[in-house]
Amino acid sequence: MLPFISKKNNKSILSLDDIKLPSHVGIIMDGNGRWAKKRGLPRSAGHSAGANNFRTITRYCNKIGIKYLTVYAFSTENWKRPEDEVGALMKLFKSYLQEAIADFKDENIVVKFIGDRNAFSPELQSLIDENEKLSADRTGMVLNIAMNYGSRDEIVRAVKNIAVDVKDGCLTIDDINEKVISDNMYTAGQPDPDLVIRPSGEYRISNFLLWQSAYTEYIIMDVLWPDFNTGMLDDALIEFARRNRRFGGV
Ligand code: IPE
Ligand code: IPE
Ligand code: MG
Repeated sequence: MLPFISKKNNKSILSLDDIKLPSHVGIIMDGNGRWAKKRGLPRSAGHSAGANNFRTITRYCNKIGIKYLTVYAFSTENWKRPEDEVGALMKLFKSYLQEAIADFKDENIVVKFIGDRNAFSPELQSLIDENEKLSADRTGMVLNIAMNYGSRDEIVRAVKNIAVDVKDGCLTIDDINEKVISDNMYTAGQPDPDLVIRPSGEYRISNFLLWQSAYTEYIIMDVLWPDFNTGMLDDALIEFARRNRRFGGV
């Protein structure tokens, strides 16, 4: 079931060369656990497969000219999972972060982390900082990795920052507008996501980019994240190009 994508009306008619790509794509990388379960493997094996697929899809997005990619890797709610699963995820983050320092150099990718990094171990936090520092001057795709990210948490943080600015007299209440709020989000200065893809078939947002996705197009795909491939991404991009975005107009 690919509820919003019909191959017949889609890929056979259009190719990526014919369409305008979205500037900012979000992906909720969901379904690792079910992928592992189907194979009789531990959930951690699904996360390893998911992490490998993340590497493939990220490179592909950069290659085809996506300007901003935001991937949801770990939510503020994912801490409630069993300790061994969270531990396996932290290990995967560490090895990915170590490798990414060298890896994305040739690809010219700017790496940013969105979410509350204070919850991670000092070692992970310094790898996060190092990745951001080393990639800051690159000119290719901006890759936002959402780790310990929750949209509600992000909004609370923004409200607190704005309240401090008002208290300190840098801002008046009348100055507060949508731009001020956007500028206090982790994604400050970036365009809102045009398209969010959710593999795994779940029809929900799960606390991802609530403020930023007011007019985002959603594509839900019935494939588990480790099985999601570049052809499916092409299908989603083509489907996106066929949507009529009205932003409340006519
Ligand atoms: C997404 O896959 C990865 C994280 C949330 C960290 P899941 O682990 O949620 O996989 P399912 O949804 O249980 O299949
Ligand atoms: C969303 O997936 C978070 C990530 C993919 C990182 P979840 O698996 O945590 O979402 P729910 O629990 O199905 O809503
Ligand atoms: Mg899930």
